[in-house]
Amino acid sequence: MLTLKFNLVLIGFMGTGKTSLGRMLAFKLGCAFVDLDQKIEADSGMSIPDIFRSHGEDYFRQLEHQAVEEVSKRRGIVIATGGGTVKDPRNVELLKNNGLLVCLTCSVDELLTRTAIKGERPVLDSQHQARGDRRAAIEKILDERRQFYDQADYKIDTTDWSPMKLVDDIIKIVRSRES
Ligand code: S3P
Repeated sequence: MLTLKFNLVLIGFMGTGKTSLGRMLAFKLGCAFVDLDQKIEADSGMSIPDIFRSHGEDYFRQLEHQAVEEVSKRRGIVIATGGGTVKDPRNVELLKNNGLLVCLTCSVDELLTRTAIKGERPVLDSQHQARGDRRAAIEKILDERRQFYDQADYKIDTTDWSPMKLVDDIIKIVRSRES
């Protein structure tokens, strides 16, 4: 068994597989898993869409930053961030301090399929509403965020969804950094 000395932090756009792969990675590594969005929901007692609806994005980002402050104090865990977590440079600094950042990427076509359900992702839904086109909304947000996702230590393309292989690939990266 591999004991993680640092945190494994998954970043990337909505629908790239951060939560699913994060859970599988933690299981395989035998360590704890924290999904930031789930933590925010549990701590606030509200769903993410409800937080956006009732209090707005700025308030959500404050809760997100508090959650990052808490989880980044831990060590040897897998963390799945939200798609916008790395927009805040304070979050990147905290997460990088004792963590390896792996960015999950995916083609726009596949992202369109994976994020098709409306009502779950307020940032994408509001951009969709503004542009009248979901593909254009994804491309616009991706463009804005490229610079933030580029801060990752590694990138892994999840377009071809083969979770077992993706988990193995990420564990290989972790091993190379542990030794
Ligand atoms: C967001 C992504 C969501 C969630 C919130 C904001 C974003 O997480 O944190 O709706 O700004 O990209 P997922 O990436 O898990 O969908």
